[in-house]
Amino acid sequence: MTLRILRASEHHAEALRALHTLTFPGDSHEDYLTGWWWIVFDGWNPVAFAGMRHAHSEPDVIYFSRCGVLASHRGLGLQKKLLARRLALAKRLGVKACISTTIVMNTPSSNNLIRAGFRLYDPAEPWGHNETLYWRKELIVEKRAAHPGEVREHSP
Ligand SMILES: CC(C)(COP(=O)(O)OP(=O)(O)OC[C@H]1O[C@@H](n2cnc3c(N)ncnc32)[C@H](O)[C@@H]1OP(=O)(O)O)[C@@H](O)C(=O)NCCC(=O)NCCS
Repeated sequence: MTLRILRASEHHAEALRALHTLTFPGDSHEDYLTGWWWIVFDGWNPVAFAGMRHAHSEPDVIYFSRCGVLASHRGLGLQKKLLARRLALAKRLGVKACISTTIVMNTPSSNNLIRAGFRLYDPAEPWGHNETLYWRKELIVEKRAAHPGEVREHSP
């Protein structure tokens, strides 16, 4: 098995669409020409994909939209690698945070997001359904100015 992770171009749109159909049956499709997409090949066969785009919910934030791995290639660390690729690019873009969503039953994705440093958060205006979990990783942590009333520790 020789796995190659590539940044997808418009030439891969149909392959991304096919992978989405196989890994998210019944879900509506994404726009595979907008944002950034990755595709994983095993030899000549596409086996996994992931995407990210600018978030609609707030400025200067990237939304990790979809990641799907064919059943035949699960448990090989592909989702972890695709998370790492997206985080690396988001950092290079200089955005302040990355966000993502999962459904409550998706334990592997939740654990992978936790390992990558994401935490659960409550968006001001949730856009998912009741079973949606919202995840966030800050990339730029602003230094907070000390408040006058803030408790500070002083050395003797
Ligand atoms: C979720 C999905 C992307 C995971 O892809 P993957 O490449 O197999 O994931 P990885 O190999 O990187 O990691 C899987 C991890 O989950 C763990 N795992 C797998 N099944 C699990 C389960 N039922 N409970 C807990 N952990 C589980 C694996 O042990 C592994 O963790 P480890 O590295 O600590 O051993 C893949 O199953 C998939 O495409 N599912 C359908 C579409 C989907 O749900 N996409 C995600 C939407 S957010």
